[in-house]
Amino acid sequence: MNGPLTILGIESSCDDTGAAILRHVPGARPEILSNVVSGQTALHADFGGVVPEIAARAHVEKLDPCTAEALGRAGVTLDGIDGIAVTAGPGLIGGVMAGVMFAKGLAAARGLPLIGVNHLAGHALTPRLTGDVAFPYLMLLVSGGHCQFLRVDGPDDFVRLGGTIDDAPGEAFDKVAQALALPQPGGPNVEICARDGTDRIALPRPLMDREGCDMSFSGLKTAVLRARDAALVDGALPRAARADICASFQAAMAEILARKSRRAIAQAGPVTTLAVAGGVAANVAIRAAIEDVAREAGIGFDAPPLALCTDNAAMIAWAGIERFRLGHRDGMDLAARPRWPLDAGATPMLGSGRKGAKA
Ligand code: KG4
Ligand code: ZN
Repeated sequence: MNGPLTILGIESSCDDTGAAILRHVPGARPEILSNVVSGQTALHADFGGVVPEIAARAHVEKLDPCTAEALGRAGVTLDGIDGIAVTAGPGLIGGVMAGVMFAKGLAAARGLPLIGVNHLAGHALTPRLTGDVAFPYLMLLVSGGHCQFLRVDGPDDFVRLGGTIDDAPGEAFDKVAQALALPQPGGPNVEICARDGTDRIALPRPLMDREGCDMSFSGLKTAVLRARDAALVDGALPRAARADICASFQAAMAEILARKSRRAIAQAGPVTTLAVAGGVAANVAIRAAIEDVAREAGIGFDAPPLALCTDNAAMIAWAGIERFRLGHRDGMDLAARPRWPLDAGATPMLGSGRKGAKA
């Protein structure tokens, strides 16, 4: 299909309900006509993590109004839609099922094509939605639920080069914030606190001696707990010590991600660009460290705007358009998959993050 396309994207794999409308004319930049995201942070706040049943119920309630709002903001009706792209995994199964059933219902009622999209492919293809990034490129996904290096060879062609064997980096930021009595989400608060400190505390850089670009962050988190306990004065943590711990933790994170990015580039073979996405890519020190690695390697650097780095439906609509143009269509038998590795040939990773399976 080579003509203009207007696609509705649906996202519900974790704790954000998303609906977006994208228009794409071949040869031109894709246009995001609307991108509605309804988060559930407040619903899960009392539980210290995302509660799958609460998330699924909230998606069921929000999918309809979010879609109506996306259509309204885009100024189109369902008559103007050429197809529906929906996240079919990986993620929390109740939420993924809610989205897939909603999309199937709409597709059946309106006689529209249905395209199942891998949520991670949505993240990984975002640099092509927001910029002119050519295949093959290297993608580092770093969020509260994801952490992996992917070589992106095409819309349906991914090679996983490595990833975390335990926590995701955002999860580590959030746990460190909790340990230091900083508010959630932890990442931005640790970053602010780190500005007043110096990186003087020696913290481990796990898995540096291991070949390849797998990463581990749980030992780093434990070392932060030890540093905190050692710095207590009469049971309280002095402000300066807290700032130094934050600065040291952030420096360790930046160094681990930068060194592993260097390895990933070496392992990937020729790539046009090193792209980074996910909430942790908002961290200025981490982003700068990764940008330096790309510059050293003589390749491009790309970091999509934050609203498109974190979970959203515009990235799902875009991945849907890329797959649709390759001729991909799904039927009413499209399955919701809690686990769905992008690279079927890669060894499955251990662990499952705060926000669900790491695939
Ligand atoms: O991509 P995202 O919004 O959601 C998913 O995990 O799917 O990422 C959220 C994560 C949280 O763990 C948050 O603490 C982290 O990204 N984060 C940051 C920063 N901003 C958000 N981590 C470090 N520095 C930041 N400035
Ligand atoms: Zn995500």
